[in-house]
Amino acid sequence: MKNSKSFLAVAAVMIAGLTLLSFTVNAQPKPWTVPAEYKTMKNPVAKGDASNKAGMALYTKNCASCHGKTGLGDGVKARMLKDFPGDFSAAGYQNQTDGDQFYKTKFGKGEMPKYEGKLADEDIWNIVNYMRTFKK
Ligand code: HEC
Repeated sequence: MKNSKSFLAVAAVMIAGLTLLSFTVNAQPKPWTVPAEYKTMKNPVAKGDASNKAGMALYTKNCASCHGKTGLGDGVKARMLKDFPGDFSAAGYQNQTDGDQFYKTKFGKGEMPKYEGKLADEDIWNIVNYMRTFKK
């Protein structure tokens, strides 16, 4: 009787440990999968001052709270997030196509909200253009 009780106690501790472990493993966000037609999509909004200005206003209002004013991932809400929102000044971000960034903004993933229905496509392209100015 005594033995089966301690066996149960050990089993319970092991199950708790495994559960914790699986949480740690799951803490990594799933990678993005951007469909090919978005990846190679042509940006219909010309880059330049007018687009950057429109993009900056939209970015400051909608995105800076998490992504930070200059895209470093250091917005005021960032420390409440489970996942790092990314560093938009770095090559890992800047080497992506405009279409990649458009898709990610439009459809979101995990803690990244989707802006489909909230921002017009043209506005998203303006933000994509503006985020190019964060390049180091
Ligand atoms: C509530 C916080 C939050 C807001 C607001 C937010 N994002 Fe994000 N964003 C995230 C997080 C967290 C990730 C990382 C998601 C992941 O990898 O699963 C992310 C990822 C991204 C990525 C992909 C970055 C990469 O390196 O591939 C882009 C692009 C992006 N966000 C653009 C935007 C834009 C544009 C806006 C505003 C229109 C915005 N985000 C608003 C939290 C936010």
